[in-house]
Amino acid sequence: MDGLPFSQAAENNRAPILQQLRTLLVEARSVLEIGAGTGQHAVCFAAEFPHLRWQPTEHPDQLGTLLPRCAAAALGNLASPTSLDITAGPWPSPWPDAVYTANTLHIVAKSLVEDLFSACALRATEGSRLLIYGPFNYGGQYTSESNARFDEWLKERDGRSGIRDFEWVRELAEGAGYGLEADIAMPANNRLLSFRVGAKPSP
Ligand SMILES: C[S@@+](CC[C@H](N)C(=O)[O-])C[C@H]1O[C@@H](n2cnc3c(N)ncnc32)[C@H](O)[C@@H]1O
Repeated sequence: MDGLPFSQAAENNRAPILQQLRTLLVEARSVLEIGAGTGQHAVCFAAEFPHLRWQPTEHPDQLGTLLPRCAAAALGNLASPTSLDITAGPWPSPWPDAVYTANTLHIVAKSLVEDLFSACALRATEGSRLLIYGPFNYGGQYTSESNARFDEWLKERDGRSGIRDFEWVRELAEGAGYGLEADIAMPANNRLLSFRVGAKPSP
């Protein structure tokens, strides 16, 4: 153990996410990560994608969790972590080629999910991507028993949290100018949603 902040979930899901990002980020030169947690994804993906600049961010109250692992990694293409609160920004300019966020939409309140898409709507440019990893419901249904139990646990912990409906997220994305490019099944009943400005909305 290296004593750095650690998430077992991030350790488990980084390899399958990486496999998908190899295709989705092939053209990207800049990525903004929102709610980067312990930095395990940021460090792993920055190391694997030397062609791009990875900017990890966190809510100001949690920046202290993100900093140590990123500092220890000392990667030239991994930018120093910065504060970014979905409700308040600051949002980058110029806008990155891709925004990536993992396991955040079911943590933050629904109004913050809306804030995220509003921020993107104002700034995202043709071709830029929004990549969202996590569990989603489809047709108002859980995709597994374990997701149903997880949702119950989330809501007991914080009534504002909860697994989001895929259809609602897609609607927000389309309202923000994105089209759904891919909805990828991931291990442990998670999904990786790839939205892109200019992608034709799916039927
Ligand atoms: C379940 S953790 C996921 C962390 C990391 N992305 C991962 O997959 O391991 C949810 C993250 O969302 C962050 N978060 C919560 N509210 C936020 C806000 N208003 N703005 C930005 N990040 C926020 C939390 O600080 C936390 O790191």
